[in-house]
Amino acid sequence: MQHWHILGAGAIGGLFATLLQDAGIPCTLLLRDDDPDLAAGSACITLRRDDQLHKHRFAVSANSEDSPLSYLLVCTKAYDMVPAIAGIEHRLAPGATILLLANGLGYQEQVQARWPRLDCFAGSTTEGAFREARRSICHAGHGSTLVGQPGRPSAPDWFASWQGLQTSCEWSADIDTVLWRKLAINCAINPVTALHRCPNGALAEQPQLAALVRELCTEISAIAIASGQAGAVEDLHPQVMAVIRATASNRSSMLQDVLAGRETEIDYLTGYLLAQGQQFGVEAPRNALLLQALKAQNAGHAPA
Ligand code: PAF
Repeated sequence: MQHWHILGAGAIGGLFATLLQDAGIPCTLLLRDDDPDLAAGSACITLRRDDQLHKHRFAVSANSEDSPLSYLLVCTKAYDMVPAIAGIEHRLAPGATILLLANGLGYQEQVQARWPRLDCFAGSTTEGAFREARRSICHAGHGSTLVGQPGRPSAPDWFASWQGLQTSCEWSADIDTVLWRKLAINCAINPVTALHRCPNGALAEQPQLAALVRELCTEISAIAIASGQAGAVEDLHPQVMAVIRATASNRSSMLQDVLAGRETEIDYLTGYLLAQGQQFGVEAPRNALLLQALKAQNAGHAPA
């Protein structure tokens, strides 16, 4: 049986830790050296789902320890992927399996380029989870998770145990398309909600914002098509509107970051998109203005 270590036990990392443990898969949380749970010798994650509380106790391990890691799930923010992995790189077994699960694109290539010997997988999830307190997570909405490795049609052996999780978790033979589709949807929703500090539903209700979302979708589609990702943006605008309606009262992850004074993932969403546009000679003025405006708005905000 594989033993998974989780780096980034926030809302999504904590949720997957509980799902793995419920499926009988050994799982340890990796913690910063100053985390008080290290002294306690274990960490308790409380998961609230349908108004019921489920408590899970986990083994913990300090990042600086040196026992080797063979199966690693990384659920940090996109911009923390490389620094977080660098903090435990001395523990990575040769050829270790590493699964990266965050919004955005760009960090996957950065990780693979810096640690070429890792067996690197990428995932995309629509699970709705947010942190209510330090180790308390609300599992607000059941979603599905797709995992894959570019160019790999069938799942590796280790994935069989993930298919036993109490959630929909499937192998994708085309993870690039999955990640691009998620990127396209996030680029059309998250920066607008973060700039206007509104719930997702406002993007359907306010005509000016709805028009902006439509224009963003047109530019995003043009860049995706030029990048060879036409399949990811088929019917992008209706899909984006469906996500907006289905999550109308939600605050997007980027709005939550802005309100908490945290860095946003904009460089791995709109930033990545614009870099692709530049590479293929496709301009995206609406997206560029949005990125600029968001950066200007958040300039000087000290991280919480
Ligand atoms: O990042 C998010 O907040 C979500 O993925 C979504 C649904 C696109 C916006 O709330």
